[in-house]
Amino acid sequence: MSFFEEVHDRKQTKSVKWDMLQMRFQSDDVIPMWVADMDFKAPEAVNQALIKRAEHGIYGYTVIDEDVTSAVTDWVKNRHGWDIQSEWLNYSPGVINTLHMALQAFTEPGDKIMIQTPVYTPFYNIINVLEREIVKNPLIHQDDYYTIDFEDMENKLASGVKAFILCSPHNPVGRVWTEKELRKMAELCLQYDAMIFSDEIHADLVFQGHKHLPIASLSTEIADKTITCMAPSKTFNLAGLQASYAITPNKENKEKLTNAFLRQGFNNSLNGMAVTAMEAAYRHGESWLGELLEVIQGHTEYIKEMFAAHAPELKVTKSEGTYLVWVDCSELNMDKEELNRFMIDKGRVGLNPGQDYGIEGDTFMRINVACPRATIEEGVKRIIHAVEIWREANN
Ligand SMILES: Cc1ncc(COP(=O)(O)O)c(C=O)c1O
Repeated sequence: MSFFEEVHDRKQTKSVKWDMLQMRFQSDDVIPMWVADMDFKAPEAVNQALIKRAEHGIYGYTVIDEDVTSAVTDWVKNRHGWDIQSEWLNYSPGVINTLHMALQAFTEPGDKIMIQTPVYTPFYNIINVLEREIVKNPLIHQDDYYTIDFEDMENKLASGVKAFILCSPHNPVGRVWTEKELRKMAELCLQYDAMIFSDEIHADLVFQGHKHLPIASLSTEIADKTITCMAPSKTFNLAGLQASYAITPNKENKEKLTNAFLRQGFNNSLNGMAVTAMEAAYRHGESWLGELLEVIQGHTEYIKEMFAAHAPELKVTKSEGTYLVWVDCSELNMDKEELNRFMIDKGRVGLNPGQDYGIEGDTFMRINVACPRATIEEGVKRIIHAVEIWREANN
């Protein structure tokens, strides 16, 4: 059996995805296909590095040395063609922590912050908790595909937006923004003097035929207005270890961000296991990632084909990356609460309700396909069965 087909029991590992089913879905009888981590083991080289570290048995203060930093800069250069300097890096436990810091460093309470909805839920939470104002530039949804409404974006920026949180690639709609789109977004941000906080946590999870471009790599002018967030956490399934980094090429901006971290008591350090795992993943994880990408692209296509054949009421958004599949369920004619309960009670699957990504997602569900084929097949079978019962009752 291949590495990615192996089914692992993740229960009682303090897993958010598997050990919180009652709290999240009020049911234990669901297959969890929600929160964005994977049911796969990390690359063997990562596990071996962590075991070796644990066998040593001493967990003192950890330095992020040249070996770690060069693993990061080499990865970004080799994978994304962006030649970054180690002085541009701030390490942080998570991308969301960094976005918090960036908002505090570059904006004030009451400032307008633009997001492209539907979008990853914590973007809303950060803006709200820091008492900034959410300005939506809703994506255009047509023919099960999403594009950018540039006219609306320009109007919103002209209204005095201070910063734009870009999700690139986009969670949940699965877009990998093209160079043309990225350039246009950046040009508008430069024209209206808005900072770009680019969340590129899904950068490595891009399907064949598409290429992730870090927006800041497109020109020095854009780099001067951008804070880029990247991490090995989605790519190699290390979210529980908490390692990420921000890339800030502009010296003044870098200083501002560093000060924001310092004010919150963060001193550019990570825990020892995170450092060990990040270095090993970036140095030795590439072939594992190649296989993973084939698996998740295959699962995404499988869901699309199966729903088209057996549950055509469910429309799968055309996805270019990430392991998150965004499904339009509007033909079921349910309100958002009904739809959520339908998937739990009738489908017996634990998905993310689209409503969590903004009002534009009310009739959608998000499915995490980073699990063994057997899990996907069972999940899809359950959903199709639920839709068949719905169809009989409604026709
Ligand atoms: C777009 C996006 N940003 C950030 C995160 C979370 O990042 P972290 O755990 O590093 O805060 C996720 C997790 O799903 C995500 O999808």
